[in-house]
Amino acid sequence: MAIFVTGGAGFIGSQFVRDWVRKYPAQLLINFDKLTYAGNLENLAEVEGNPAYRLVRGDVCDPNAVLDALPDRCGAVVHFAAESHVDRSILSAAEFVRTNVLGTQVMLDCARQKGVGRFLHISTDEVGGDMEADEWFHEDSPLDPSSPYAASKTAAEHFVRAATRTFGLDTVITRTSNNYGPYQFPEKLLPLAISNAIEERPIPVYGDGMQVRDWIHVEDNTAALFAVLERGRKGATYHIGGGNPLPNIEVLRLLLRLLGRPESLLTRVPDRLGHDRRYAVDCTLIRGELGWKPGIPFEDGLRETVEWYRDHPDWVAHAKSGEYRGYYEKMYGVSV
Ligand code: NAD
Ligand code: DAU
Repeated sequence: MAIFVTGGAGFIGSQFVRDWVRKYPAQLLINFDKLTYAGNLENLAEVEGNPAYRLVRGDVCDPNAVLDALPDRCGAVVHFAAESHVDRSILSAAEFVRTNVLGTQVMLDCARQKGVGRFLHISTDEVGGDMEADEWFHEDSPLDPSSPYAASKTAAEHFVRAATRTFGLDTVITRTSNNYGPYQFPEKLLPLAISNAIEERPIPVYGDGMQVRDWIHVEDNTAALFAVLERGRKGATYHIGGGNPLPNIEVLRLLLRLLGRPESLLTRVPDRLGHDRRYAVDCTLIRGELGWKPGIPFEDGLRETVEWYRDHPDWVAHAKSGEYRGYYEKMYGVSV
């Protein structure tokens, strides 16, 4: 049966696509992506031309485009497509409401109309908001988003649960903590810091740098998503965390050590508005029910990630300059 992935040209979506096509070479995977600034086809060079893979350029907010691309009785939809960067949502929230909320509702309606087998919705630990020092975010904890991004992801989740309750659609939701790894757009902390450190440019540290994020390698995340898609309970929500809760400043010091760069590159800048101090997802449910746990120790994963960015200066340069957008034109003869 076919699988329909939205946002498969982004950071996590492209990891999922590469992993899926390697694991299930006989199944058709359709990648439906608008190719916004965050969609980079260079992330998918490995599957380009593979008969098991098809790219459709389209917007999840456009029901006609989705219905055209989504096969009848498709095995599953995996819905990654979103505006994903918190700072951009603070500058302007409108696109976040459109893509993350309206886009999710359109995807749910189309999935129902086409008799899709299962709808996996990719959400985030940010929907729980700030956690106190000894507090844990459980699957049934109250939702209390802080940023416009997190508010839009929270609203989207409500539509997913409503689709199961009202229409019986088979949905599952995952809430993952901060992913790191190759192919992440260099607006996010780690690829920005690594690429700036390589170029010996300042690394912005928001506020006191003591905000805690739980880092998970993107390959551990996609392994968890496979488990949830294949064995998760209808209507359930699963938390996925790396078990590596660290203050930003510690992560940055570690990566400077790995790169042999001085701490003087760390440059304090004003704090993000409404900045959450700590996220802490409790992952007891997915461990107990599906037997998943993360396998990549943080320091090993970070070392490999740093090496990947060091070994791929062209990818970084294209991403930072916007040149990656020419790839679409080269491959498909259409400019974005
Ligand atoms: P990303 O920004 O790297 O990629 C987003 C992808 O969605 C891009 O390919 C983009 O072109 C596509 N897209 C955007 N708007 C679209 C639209 N209207 N129609 C079709 N495609 C569209 O994002 P990411 O970091 O890979 O995150 C993927 C998902 O995982 C998001 O839903 C995000 O909220 C969630 N998430 C991310 C993290 C993280 O650490 N990055 C953690 C938890 C959850
Ligand atoms: O927690 C999951 C979320 O992780 C996902 O839902 C989001 O899509 C993803 O973008 C990410 O959000 P964060 O805001 O945690 O990630 P970001 O990389 O933007 O920032 C990580 C931390 O580093 C955060 O505390 C802000 C801080 N920061 C960020 C940047 C870009 C800095 O100190 N300096 C920076 O330049």
